[in-house]
Amino acid sequence: MFDPMSVWLHEMPEQLRGSMCLSIDLPPQYHHVKYNAVLICAMGGSAIGGDILSTAAAQQAPCPLLVHRSYGLPAWADADTLVCAVSYSGNTEETLSAYHAAVERGCLRVVISSGGELTRLAQKNGDALISVPGSLMPRAALGWLFASLALALEEIGLLCGMRKDIRATAEMLEEMRPELVPENEVRYNPARALARSLQGQLPLIWGCTGTTEAVARRWKAQFNENAKIPAWHNTLPELDHNEIMGFDLPEEILQRIVLILLRDPDDPPRLQKRMDITRALVESRIHSVVEVPARGHDPLSRLFSLIYLGDYASYYLAKGYGLDPVVIPRIDALKSAMTAGEQGEA
Ligand code: F6R
Repeated sequence: MFDPMSVWLHEMPEQLRGSMCLSIDLPPQYHHVKYNAVLICAMGGSAIGGDILSTAAAQQAPCPLLVHRSYGLPAWADADTLVCAVSYSGNTEETLSAYHAAVERGCLRVVISSGGELTRLAQKNGDALISVPGSLMPRAALGWLFASLALALEEIGLLCGMRKDIRATAEMLEEMRPELVPENEVRYNPARALARSLQGQLPLIWGCTGTTEAVARRWKAQFNENAKIPAWHNTLPELDHNEIMGFDLPEEILQRIVLILLRDPDDPPRLQKRMDITRALVESRIHSVVEVPARGHDPLSRLFSLIYLGDYASYYLAKGYGLDPVVIPRIDALKSAMTAGEQGEA
């Protein structure tokens, strides 16, 4: 049977490579501007590429790269702020609201979308528009959405080395792919093995601020949307100041928690030490702990190596439960209910 999610997962490296062939021409007025910030306005599967980029570019970006997940814009955003409105469908109301606020404040705008109202507005207003291929689920279009954003910021001179890093990341994922695909049996397939260990359990995913935070968020969202299970994520060092106390009760829930520790060699030594100590303090209170090491020779490849594994694991978990990883009926119902009866409303 045709299984679109497995095809989309398979194609993540091709998405990254394909982004380098998209038309990413930003007119001269976007170049050589001293922006006070880049504000990436997006929700859900369209926002996570912004989180990854803000981590990957933190050491070189000349201004903050911030992800804004809500209506409107923060009060400080002004004509010196570059607004990147990213919505795969182009119809997400929070992102459209942020876009309208950006027009009102006179911000320069980059729009990344596969169509919808956002594309229409970008064309009408003469914004820089990057059109990514349609017919995917937004969360399955991460390669397109992340890379087109990174390349747009490189194109206007805010970032450098993105093209090279994206190419290296695609190579890394291609190297991992034969291990992760459904044809590879469970004992040689780390994603299937992880999914098996999560069957009937609840994942709690921990990363580190500055390295794997966005990955932890991605894993949580993929377990929610693909496997339809509750999942939580948090980051060190903050969680050492609160969450580690939450392992006393209720016992029956704690005994169902699988703690997933995302480990990146880029994690600063003090955070690595914290992770070891924290693990030892909570391990006996929960079902089990799984450590997942990042792979790759550069920071972006390492982030995507973890994302690729987590995406596949959430897919196999859905399959293990006999669920369709593609559909998201509760999100669809929410969006319909939010717009119901609005025709003719003031
Ligand atoms: C669906 C998904 C959702 C959407 C979100 C925003 O696959 O991941 O989180 O990304 O509802 O919609 P878009 O991405 O169309 O702006």
